[in-house]
Amino acid sequence: MLSPTDIAAELAARKAGFSLSRPLYCDEGTFAADLEQIWYREWLFALPACQLDKPGAYATLQIGAYPVVVVRGTDNMIRAFHNVCRHRGQRLCSKTTGTTPKLVCPYHQWTYDLDGKLQYARDMGEDFDPAAFGLKKVHCADLGGMVFLCLAEVPPPVADLAKNLMAYTAPSGLKDAKVAFSSTIVENGNWKLVLENNRECYHCGGSHPSLCRTYSDNPRMTAMDGPDSASAEILAHWQRCEAAGLPSRFLMHPSHQWRLARIPLLNHAESYTMSTKAAVAKRMGTMPFNDAGSLLFFHYPNSWNHFLGDHAITFRVLPISPTETEVTTSWLVHKDAVEGVDYDLKTLTEVWIATNDEDRQVVEENQKGILSPAYEPGPYSPLQEEGVIQFVDWYCALMAGRLAPRPALAAE
Ligand code: FES
Ligand SMILES: [Fe+2]
Repeated sequence: MLSPTDIAAELAARKAGFSLSRPLYCDEGTFAADLEQIWYREWLFALPACQLDKPGAYATLQIGAYPVVVVRGTDNMIRAFHNVCRHRGQRLCSKTTGTTPKLVCPYHQWTYDLDGKLQYARDMGEDFDPAAFGLKKVHCADLGGMVFLCLAEVPPPVADLAKNLMAYTAPSGLKDAKVAFSSTIVENGNWKLVLENNRECYHCGGSHPSLCRTYSDNPRMTAMDGPDSASAEILAHWQRCEAAGLPSRFLMHPSHQWRLARIPLLNHAESYTMSTKAAVAKRMGTMPFNDAGSLLFFHYPNSWNHFLGDHAITFRVLPISPTETEVTTSWLVHKDAVEGVDYDLKTLTEVWIATNDEDRQVVEENQKGILSPAYEPGPYSPLQEEGVIQFVDWYCALMAGRLAPRPALAAE
């Protein structure tokens, strides 16, 4: 198991433009360092706010060692707490989702308000002060309908992301949406392999027959390489969409942690469907036309998303172990769209259910190959895998910076 010093040495020895070394994908020490340095410190996408559709609706998730519960309060605010009872530490909510008027511990029924205050604890004696035993808070930010969490005591700034994400997604009306379907799968691969696979479409032609009906595998059509590489078609798409009030141009944070860009689908396809036509009769928010393409938004380390004219799809990645990663996909539609009338669930979901399973298979085979002692890092394609290079560079720079030895304190 690698120590932080070993990991720093692996990172320093890395060849730029090549995949990572085996221990950086598979080692227990690297996994622990990834959790400590990235997953416990960065903002993470948790869920679409509309999933918590009424006061008392909650969802739980596991971030490394931390069970967390996210809940909508009676004041409609979404808050997040460590999902750990302040009595003797029982996990408070064991279900993935639910609705409850209060958060009641199943062990001895300590009862918390939806804002985390301890409201009731039986027979604790006269000196007991309930105000000292409220649930521990987790930082929570609802960015226009996308709920992010941060476990750090002092989270990194989120204002820039908030401003741009809210501007780009405003026409999608995420607050007036509902979750039509959601799926959670486990991929037997390291979380970085899951992200790497998402950041290129070099594999799409060989793996994704249904997605390739509508999604171009040409990196110049999907702004994988940045605004300068954009094709004439994508430039025309940005112009048309922006004239109609849809922020569309490629926008990337200087740290490269997130990017927004609205890309056209193939041949004016309207949606990720087998027919290429919209899956939902009622458009999202104020989307002006069906063929607005897909607004792509990724945020490292754990999310990529597609916002189309008729629906949106959010993806959340959570690491389970060095070689296991959970991926949760949610399909959002207008809240007034009625299943069976305005949309058919199979038509809406079949392309990405298939695509997720195809991605799971390639990630798992990738992981199996990397577990071999014969594996050695190979070169990324500069034409097709610029997005992967960018992700791996982000990861390595962040980890190297955070694992760097601190200068010793000067003697008094
Ligand atoms: S551990 Fe929660 S009430 Fe006892
Ligand atoms: Fe894929």
